[in-house]
Amino acid sequence: MNFFKKEKRTALEAIEYAQWIAHAPIVFQAARVMRNNGIMQAIQDAGKKGLTLEEIVEKTKLPHYGVRVLLESGLGAGIVLENDKKYTLTKTGYFLLNDTMTRVNMDFVQDVCYKGLFNLEDSIKNEKPEGLKVFGNWKTVYEALSQLPDFVQKSWFGFDHYYSDDAFPLVLPLVFKNKPKKILDIGGNTGKWSIACAKFDKDVHMTIVDLPGQVNMAKQNIEKQGLSNRISFHETNMLIENQKLPKGYDAIWMSQFLDCFSEKEITSILNKCYEAINDDGFVFILEPFWDRQRFEAAAFSLQQTSLYFTAIANGNSQMYHSEVFLKCVSAANFEVVEQIDQIGVSQSLLRCKKK
Ligand SMILES: C[S@@+](CC[C@H](N)C(=O)[O-])C[C@H]1O[C@@H](n2cnc3c(N)ncnc32)[C@H](O)[C@@H]1O
Repeated sequence: MNFFKKEKRTALEAIEYAQWIAHAPIVFQAARVMRNNGIMQAIQDAGKKGLTLEEIVEKTKLPHYGVRVLLESGLGAGIVLENDKKYTLTKTGYFLLNDTMTRVNMDFVQDVCYKGLFNLEDSIKNEKPEGLKVFGNWKTVYEALSQLPDFVQKSWFGFDHYYSDDAFPLVLPLVFKNKPKKILDIGGNTGKWSIACAKFDKDVHMTIVDLPGQVNMAKQNIEKQGLSNRISFHETNMLIENQKLPKGYDAIWMSQFLDCFSEKEITSILNKCYEAINDDGFVFILEPFWDRQRFEAAAFSLQQTSLYFTAIANGNSQMYHSEVFLKCVSAANFEVVEQIDQIGVSQSLLRCKKK
């Protein structure tokens, strides 16, 4: 991956780009307001013909002044074009309106991160998620998750699921190659992976490990699916050193889980896995590593997502570079026997066994 080795901009492009960064929160809010209030939709519906400012005001029922300043912001930001007083959407405008990934990212940034990120500096200095205070007094977002306002939960889960959901069907055959009978799903969240496994192989028994709030959500989902006899639960906080995991598992699954922890914590959790898993079992880790991406925009998104962990989630974790992460795996006495990159939108699968 050579995205970040060389200067790519001329001096003029660089000072222009610096203005983009200086105004990024304003551009973000303007784009979101245009998206959420029907401005982009109205312009898209008009097709190549476009719409005048007055026609957009008429269609959206928004004040004339407001629509004008938003459209002018959108011109500079490359979201709309103006010819003969008619506005049309650019390709970027099209994606802002219609692309699921863009929508999921914007909603996550707005509803989960935006206000809290104001506290980034303190979060960095104090190594604490100081931005989480905008929601209440918790040590980590994971303890807060089931109590956050509905719209925040919706955007959080929308983001989380978007990046893991499409990988699940692709990795199921790999995980079940050795016919595991008992799988521990650590950080099982709403139960999506365990449900998928129980449906994929009628002989497997799953155990979800998570914090109480999430286990409750998972239980409800699993009951609805009629899978309560196939999926058990183990409520625990994986950060409590002396709380061990149950033993005797053929496989342990952790998807988008270990990025919730610092390097030291990752190794400590993997030490617990070492004790819980059978000697011939495998630990499967699904993670989006920013250095294993095909597209620069994917690496960029992950690098920026790291700062959500800094300011909101827990103050000490991130979307990792694979090299940093693999050191933690090795420190816990596991070796990676297989690594498959570019699964789904952004994931890598590590299959690890005891050294
Ligand atoms: C980012 S979500 C990943 C969910 C799911 N595995 C997926 O791939 O979509 C991380 C999960 O880890 C759980 N978690 C975070 N910290 C934890 C802890 N200290 N102990 C147990 N579970 C924890 C959270 O509650 C959440 O369900």
